[in-house]
Amino acid sequence: MAYTSVTTQQPLSFEDLNQPSPPVLTASGPVTVRNASPSSEDTKFLGEVVILGFERKTVHATSRSKLPVMKAYYQKHSSGRPPLFYERYFIAEYDGERAGACCLRYQGDDALFPERNEDLPQSELGCCDLFRLYIMTSGTKVDIPADKAYVDHICVLSKFRGKGIGKILLDMADMDARKRGCKSIFLLVATSNPAQHLYERQGYVFKETTCLCSCCMYCMTGEKEFALMEKVL
Ligand SMILES: CC(C)(COP(=O)(O)OP(=O)(O)OC[C@H]1O[C@@H](n2cnc3c(N)ncnc32)[C@H](O)[C@@H]1OP(=O)(O)O)[C@@H](O)C(=O)NCCC(=O)NCCS
Repeated sequence: MAYTSVTTQQPLSFEDLNQPSPPVLTASGPVTVRNASPSSEDTKFLGEVVILGFERKTVHATSRSKLPVMKAYYQKHSSGRPPLFYERYFIAEYDGERAGACCLRYQGDDALFPERNEDLPQSELGCCDLFRLYIMTSGTKVDIPADKAYVDHICVLSKFRGKGIGKILLDMADMDARKRGCKSIFLLVATSNPAQHLYERQGYVFKETTCLCSCCMYCMTGEKEFALMEKVL
């Protein structure tokens, strides 16, 4: 089905982002994309979609029984942040229902949006889980150059997959990166992940695989190898 795309992207004000539903940035048939807001509905959705999207990795680092705790953690991590934080998150809705999300990162974002110790449910996770989560994050940590944007997460709830939402979120990421003067956009994807086909279709090309040995990478992340893919904008 061919949809026409309407883009109305404008710089967002604090008032825009504080609305329960910020203005639509892109509309394509039943799919609309907007920035996330600090509302509990949006942060709860981010917790749900990010942890479910990366369920395998999360279970590898903790355990299946800890998924609800991890969702609550990610919801807290996404709450009470400055407006710029929410500009980094795009939420896609399908017929008005939250369906997927994408998070972009730029150079300096780690310092702007630091991890907050108080978000971590230390008592519910315990030292072992916390250590493995730290190791998992280190395994796929990237340096973001000044002229590049990094797709940190992209995930669509399973019932909405295959409807073109991932493509629209990636188009939105390209648009945002161009608006911020980036020359390219890149991401890391497990070489076992079928999402690589989507990235290739979107114009990403394979650059290299992660240099750690596959056993080491598997211990850290639950995946043997990651590919760095990049698209010139
Ligand atoms: C990757 C993902 C965001 C794509 O969203 P989507 O809305 O289904 O994407 P589209 O409809 O635009 O495109 C479909 C493409 O997604 C990929 N895909 C389909 N199912 C997938 C799955 N379970 N996991 C990963 N990628 C998948 C395929 O490449 C598919 O195209 P193909 O059938 O021609 O190979 C979604 O599948 C997802 O959330 N997966 C789990 C989280 C994840 O792996 N994220 C990427 C991390 S790098």
